[in-house]
Amino acid sequence: MVNARKKITVVGAGQVGTTVAQLAAYKNLGNVVIADIVEGLPQGKALDLQQSGCLQVFDSIVTGTNDYQDTAGSDIVVITAGLPRKPGQDRSDLLKINAKIVKEVTEQIMKYSSDPLIIVVSNPLDAMVYVAKQVSGLPKSRIIGMAGVLDSARFRTFVSLELNCSLVDVDAMVLGGHGDSMVPMPRYTTVSGISITDLMNTEQIDRLVNRTRSGGAEIVGLLKKGSAFLSPGASVVKMIEAVLLDKKRMLPCTAFLEGEYGWDGIFFGVPVTLGISGIENIIELKLTEEEKKAINTSAQDVKKMIDEVDLFL
Ligand code: APR
Repeated sequence: MVNARKKITVVGAGQVGTTVAQLAAYKNLGNVVIADIVEGLPQGKALDLQQSGCLQVFDSIVTGTNDYQDTAGSDIVVITAGLPRKPGQDRSDLLKINAKIVKEVTEQIMKYSSDPLIIVVSNPLDAMVYVAKQVSGLPKSRIIGMAGVLDSARFRTFVSLELNCSLVDVDAMVLGGHGDSMVPMPRYTTVSGISITDLMNTEQIDRLVNRTRSGGAEIVGLLKKGSAFLSPGASVVKMIEAVLLDKKRMLPCTAFLEGEYGWDGIFFGVPVTLGISGIENIIELKLTEEEKKAINTSAQDVKKMIDEVDLFL
């Protein structure tokens, strides 16, 4: 039987992976395969999700598997597999563990899919998406990290709460690495086209910028166990929609730089156009001296991490 529906594979049946699978199915974006190393977990989640189909009205077929053969011919693969950082664990140890996981997952995916578009979510993000690119050999248009969509969603949320205005009218741009040195861009953050630099004072902007930078940690601190998953999942699905529906959305995504912004060979959060071919264009902004400095500091942090992860490949 011919099936013309797109195939979306989500690796990692944890919190983020399940949210991605659920939203992708609810939006009828394609058939969904959930893969995980733990036996029964992806099968159970898939069956549960499939049984919500007649209630949420979707036609997507959802399956769970521990066998990568079932991911064959994927159009999109979302990698959320990885271990969370344990209390007291060295960042470098986590980098090593998750690099090994992302390497194995990417090798398995590429065995059965010849030209997938891969979206990486596993942390530390900028290094993990680099691992997936090195291992897969995919062109830079087809391998993307999810960070900027989430970080700018957080910034948008804080702006709308501060100004008591509709979220719908707020747009934001957050560039750089997905770490403490990420670069929220107030000049390019607007409410109905008006830059927030015209709507807020410096104290307000600095406060929101800092809250955005520690947006993930704030949620970890509240949850005690695990990290954010609803907004990360929704961010991934926004990217999947942009690609599968060829929306040509202009979004901040983690892309491989080859000279853009003065950096080469690193993954970094920049504005891109996302459509059916993946990253169709990287937009280079004219930055102020202060913005350039912040971008370079963030890029240096990312470069250090990528140099470190390169040793494990
Ligand atoms: N192959 C496949 N799946 C794996 C592997 C592997 N080698 N190793 C671990 N996993 C699976 C785990 O079994 C688990 O189901 O990855 C899943 C991770 O799920 P969670 O622990 O719930 O983590 P989650 O909150 O979903 O976050 C996933 O996204 O935002 C980032 O920092 C976060 O790196 C983390 C990732």
